[in-house]
Amino acid sequence: MMPKELSPITSRVEAEGVTSLSFLPMSVADLDEVLAIESSSHIHPWTRGNFSDSLSAGHWAYCIRPELDKAVKGSYLDPQVLWAYCILFPAVDELHLLNITVSPNLRQLGIGSRMMSAIEGVAVQQNMPRIILEVRPSNLSAVKLYEKIGYESIGLRKNYYPVNPETGSREDAIVMAKSIKLEP
Ligand SMILES: CC(C)(COP(=O)(O)OP(=O)(O)OC[C@H]1O[C@@H](n2cnc3c(N)ncnc32)[C@H](O)[C@@H]1OP(=O)(O)O)[C@@H](O)C(=O)NCCC(=O)NCCS
Repeated sequence: MMPKELSPITSRVEAEGVTSLSFLPMSVADLDEVLAIESSSHIHPWTRGNFSDSLSAGHWAYCIRPELDKAVKGSYLDPQVLWAYCILFPAVDELHLLNITVSPNLRQLGIGSRMMSAIEGVAVQQNMPRIILEVRPSNLSAVKLYEKIGYESIGLRKNYYPVNPETGSREDAIVMAKSIKLEP
């Protein structure tokens, strides 16, 4: 079951300068918008099949949109416009962050940081003492974001990511983790 706190429009992360964010459960109907952002954001983007499988597997997938009460039709404050999304996989005592992507036009506005903070809230709510993720060493924006908010490198997965399917070249993944303080 998806954590109640984030479904739907219940988690508000106060944003400086932008607005509050709504986390809405991702559905198949969101996938055209999600794929448009995904394909322009990753070296090896997830396919529609990857997203559908993830939704069918019950992963916690969220679309991030502006708050409905701040809607301005046709602008970026239109809730029709997808700002970002994330996908979480709850393991027994670890929350795996499988995908976090902010729309290219809306980067460096603090949205990624606020999403990461909401994700920590999920870990606390679900009593999960650790969040874990993989990142390409070449993805400096993401590595800097994670380091800034206290993630530490805990290992390397060799040749984890495909880089060029034609040459078969691959890139390692840095495994990063953050311990989450839980209520005693
Ligand atoms: C990584 C990503 C989610 C960050 O989202 P964002 O909304 O732009 O991040 P924020 O605005 O909250 O930035 C927070 C911090 O991240 C780091 N950062 C973000 N973009 C950066 C950039 N282009 N260059 C260097 N550092 C960057 C900085 O440390 C920044 O803090 P600062 O503003 O005080 O310098 C976004 O760049 C993205 O969607 N990238 C493509 C998808 C991706 O790579 N996802 C991660 C896969 S592991």
